[in-house]
Amino acid sequence: MPESLGVAVIGAGMAGKAHAAAYRTASTLYNPTLPKIRLVSIGDVNPEFGGLAARRFGYERTDPSWQAIAEADDIDVVSVVIANSLHREVVEGLLSAGKHVLCEKPLSDTIEDARAMAATANGAPTLARVGFTFRRTPGIVYIRDLIRSGVLGDVLHFSGRYWTDYASSPHAPMSWRYKGGLGSGALADVGSHLAYVSEFLCGDITSVSGGRLSTVIQERPLPIGAVLGHDHSAVSNVYEKVENDDYAAFSASFGTGVGGFEVSRVAAGHANSLILEVFCENGAARFNQRRPAEIELFLNEGEGAQNGYRQVILGPAHPYIAGGLAMDAPSVGFGQNDAFGYQARAFLEEVAGIPEEESLPRCATFDEGVHNMELLGAVAESAENGGATVSIASEGERR
Ligand SMILES: NC(=O)c1ccc[n+]([C@@H]2O[C@H](COP(=O)([O-])OP(=O)(O)OC[C@H]3O[C@@H](n4cnc5c(N)ncnc54)[C@H](O)[C@@H]3O)[C@@H](O)[C@H]2O)c1
Repeated sequence: MPESLGVAVIGAGMAGKAHAAAYRTASTLYNPTLPKIRLVSIGDVNPEFGGLAARRFGYERTDPSWQAIAEADDIDVVSVVIANSLHREVVEGLLSAGKHVLCEKPLSDTIEDARAMAATANGAPTLARVGFTFRRTPGIVYIRDLIRSGVLGDVLHFSGRYWTDYASSPHAPMSWRYKGGLGSGALADVGSHLAYVSEFLCGDITSVSGGRLSTVIQERPLPIGAVLGHDHSAVSNVYEKVENDDYAAFSASFGTGVGGFEVSRVAAGHANSLILEVFCENGAARFNQRRPAEIELFLNEGEGAQNGYRQVILGPAHPYIAGGLAMDAPSVGFGQNDAFGYQARAFLEEVAGIPEEESLPRCATFDEGVHNMELLGAVAESAENGGATVSIASEGERR
């Protein structure tokens, strides 16, 4: 095991700050098994954002370019947390410089670039992983355990939505999120998470149909300054065309069962509502990101007249929590930022060479990132063809 690992984060925006904080806490989440983690650099083309994040999260410096981070001898591990269209150039540059890379979802803005990135990753001696953060959400992992252990049994019907409202105001400023090809809007931004979680719970999707993509606000004002994440900033009176979807819906077939999906960035009142329900052989369960420290569980047992959903408060008996929170008692509350911490811990454990059986579950590979994008591409193809059914290659066919 190396004596220490030097860490950098490229992108000091909305999710970049979550990565920066997560590397800071990763060593503290469980008993100390990691080598010393050195918080070295936050890279951002905007020196104000980079400098502020470096000071706030205790990194030694800020670098204005990803190339400076690629060339730095004191950095081993890098998170890439910038616009999707920039992922390929930066990830490939970092891998060829010998860095371990954790790239944000979706892997890229085009399937061609995503496949090229996976080919580079598969030939690289260092690790390349994708940040599907919701696989670290204790409630979602617990529902998966209930399915797999047979308590719930196979999923017959999955219902999922990821509603957000960052674009519901027509005055929300133009940003990279509104540019790109078919399906690169809400479908790629939040649909990537929902599609990943659905397969995490229900197994591989075999086909999608009923694809529908819609742009409901056609143009947006240019911001006067820089825009971070979903922020609403001062805007000019110059407008640019929105190129991608505000709303997407589709249905899917799994090996067993079917699913319905709806994602949106114009769902006023729903800043971050990932809500899912699985209806299974022996009952059902549901999760709502607004109440992440609980799930609801319904089991087909006992008196029918008394049957119904009950609230299950998550605590040390559930995944990730025992020893994984500073105070790991039931009902202490936790949320999405904790999931970034578990993700950083898992990635650092793998980089440090800690065996899989002694580590948190590994992060997703770039091949899984490509598969996720192929799914979203199939939804866009379905939408382009009036909702036609589009088959998804099985894992065997993909290899
Ligand atoms: N896992 C999650 O829950 C989650 C949440 C939000 C965003 N994301 C993903 O994270 C990525 C970034 O999204 P965001 O919302 O944080 O973006 P953002 O717009 O808030 O921030 C992007 C940052 O990158 C900087 N930047 C732009 N070009 C750069 C370059 N060439 N080199 C270095 N820095 C550069 C910008 O100045 C800005 O500070 C996207 O891939 C997005 O899909 C994931």
